[in-house]
Amino acid sequence: MDNRSIHGMWSSRLAFILAATGSAVGLGNIWRFPYMASDNGGGAFVLVYLGCVALVALPILFAELAIGRRGRRSPINTLLDLAREDRSSRGWAGVGWLGLVAGVFILSFYSVVAGWTLHYAWLYLMQLFGGTGIVDPAATFGELLSNPVEMIAWHGVFMVMTVAVVALGVEKGLERSVKLLMPALLLMLLVLLGYGVSTGHLGEAATFLFQPDFSKITPGVVLSAMGQAFFSLSLGMCGMMTYGAYLPRDVSIPRVGAAVALADTGIALLAGLAIFPIVIQFLGTPTGGGPGLIFTSLPSAFNQMGAVFGLLFFVLLAVAAWTSSISLLEPASAYLVERGWGRRRAAIAMATLCWALGLFSALGFNVLSDIRPLGQDSILDAINLVANDILLPVGGLLIALYAGWRFDRQRLREQMHGAPAALFSVWTWLLRVVAPLAVLAVLAVKLHDALQRL
Ligand code: TRP
Repeated sequence: MDNRSIHGMWSSRLAFILAATGSAVGLGNIWRFPYMASDNGGGAFVLVYLGCVALVALPILFAELAIGRRGRRSPINTLLDLAREDRSSRGWAGVGWLGLVAGVFILSFYSVVAGWTLHYAWLYLMQLFGGTGIVDPAATFGELLSNPVEMIAWHGVFMVMTVAVVALGVEKGLERSVKLLMPALLLMLLVLLGYGVSTGHLGEAATFLFQPDFSKITPGVVLSAMGQAFFSLSLGMCGMMTYGAYLPRDVSIPRVGAAVALADTGIALLAGLAIFPIVIQFLGTPTGGGPGLIFTSLPSAFNQMGAVFGLLFFVLLAVAAWTSSISLLEPASAYLVERGWGRRRAAIAMATLCWALGLFSALGFNVLSDIRPLGQDSILDAINLVANDILLPVGGLLIALYAGWRFDRQRLREQMHGAPAALFSVWTWLLRVVAPLAVLAVLAVKLHDALQRL
């Protein structure tokens, strides 16, 4: 098959690592990981999480990259081409469709939450210019949620930012933006980490994050950790497959894949090490933060630290979300381009669809707050449930099975050049058996839970 993708190519190994890390590092790392660790027993959660990344997520990441690079097109067409080549069923293209739907769902609410971070960044910026800032964090968050116009406007601003990058294409859009944004992200995180260190609570934070209390490892912790590993590494919706399609042939997938997983995990841990000392200093205990940790608890700390830190933190979150949202929009846009659409029109059309769907999530906190689909607290939670707890694991499971059992062995070996033979066979067995069983178990429990709540 082709050496180049019609959509463009990453100009170097580093460009790919930055883009894929940009996709992986997002709200999942800086918002979700710290509060999930906080809610699930700290060290116990982190340990299980690391196991899930190594044994399940990383093998699937390699699989997505290998499939993508073999096909060089958007997931749906890549899987169609590969099925033809391997003489397997065209039905495998369904995995691409599933990914497309998952991407649209996830982007729809991801952009709403990213809009909150823009709103907060704006409030802190105004505070630096004499605005009142966030006096009562719970009230500020409540006001935002109850104001549909404001929320939808920020959701729109964030979607426009996302389209602006994707419309410019792989080299001029995606690659150029991550080369600027990823170093900025790291720098902002290090400044916050520096502040965390200066509180003198780094040791306690590290103990909380790294000292596992084995009695806290429950099936629920394992489930949350697995889901988080999938979400954090952007797996199961063929996003990494799409980024793999633009990967030059000579780049070693095992090496760059491992680099991306390490960077993603490292940044989640760094975010924890930056946030927990601040939490300990100003709020007391690091346990039980919940999803509100970032939007309601931390702002009281920022009130004492100064608005600059609030601004820095929410710009950091927005940037992390931005480099992720472009990877949610790219696969569907690339598909439309292959159907003959211009790139700009394709990106705008898909983003408009996601924005419109996101209106339900935004309105679910106010105008439509009586609607609680699937027994969830809000529409956003329900869409999150369907996408993250069902579509992503199903996608990941099928990708593992396809790569493990269907993908032509010789060609798979070619894509994984650089992997020693022993590693290659360990990897194949992880894909064939371990990952599918683990994902299946998680899926079964999640479905059972969901049905119980109905
Ligand atoms: N990984 C991102 C985060 O941690 C979110 C994300 C981007 C994602 N692309 C994805 C999640 C694809 C699932 C699938 O915030």
